[in-house]
Amino acid sequence: MRTLSVVSQKGGSGRTTLSLHLATAAERAGLMAAVVDLDPQASAWKWSQRRKGAPPEVITAVADQLPEIKARAAQGLDLLVIDSAPHADRAALTACKMADHILIPTRASILDLDALTPVLDLVEMSRKPATALLNGVSTQTTVDVEEARDAIGARGIALYPAYIHERVAYKRALISGQTVLETGADPKATREIEALYAWVCSTLGIEIKTDVAAVA
Ligand SMILES: Nc1ncnc2c1ncn2[C@@H]1O[C@H](COP(=O)(O)OP(=O)(O)OP(=O)(O)O)[C@@H](O)[C@H]1O
Ligand SMILES: [Mg+2]
Repeated sequence: MRTLSVVSQKGGSGRTTLSLHLATAAERAGLMAAVVDLDPQASAWKWSQRRKGAPPEVITAVADQLPEIKARAAQGLDLLVIDSAPHADRAALTACKMADHILIPTRASILDLDALTPVLDLVEMSRKPATALLNGVSTQTTVDVEEARDAIGARGIALYPAYIHERVAYKRALISGQTVLETGADPKATREIEALYAWVCSTLGIEIKTDVAAVA
């Protein structure tokens, strides 16, 4: 089993959206996946309630429970995604330590980019590999995103090579307890998530079961 922790200090950067989409992508590709929801807001868990039992399973937990959850998950799961709370605190550090890889979603604004610093400190403490990802990128202009790329590069952190753009389909899908993979409302959003999932698989060393994905 591989573990991906999705961590950032800033609220609204897209941790929950990406965690749920990646775990769902894994399930649709024939893997067993679950999401650990570390956020007391329990957004991921509430989404799973709207799905009425459809996978992936979402487990609410506090960070101290992570070692036990991970040990249990290792028995049957292929992928565990940890959706952390909007803080760079001890709980986020535990989430980083539990990870095989850390994904750090950020918006392209200066306030969000400034908030990367404490998270990068945690990453360093955890000694785990990490990649920043620009989420909510405008489909209208590339100026912000070019500045953001430079700012992230200057911090010496790897950057996911594509973007997740601002698309209403992401928001709408979560409201109905789904993902863009399931609603099919926006093919561009679907392709963005498929590409991100493929990147996660390659980064974590998960074999992509293309035959299952093709019929899902
Ligand atoms: N790429 C996107 N396009 C459009 N809406 C998005 C995108 N990413 C996230 N959102 C929306 O932005 C809001 C915040 O996203 P999300 O809840 O995933 O972030 P978070 O980092 O988990 O926030 P929180 O601090 O509340 O836990 C949600 O309403 C979500 O639907
Ligand atoms: Mg969240």
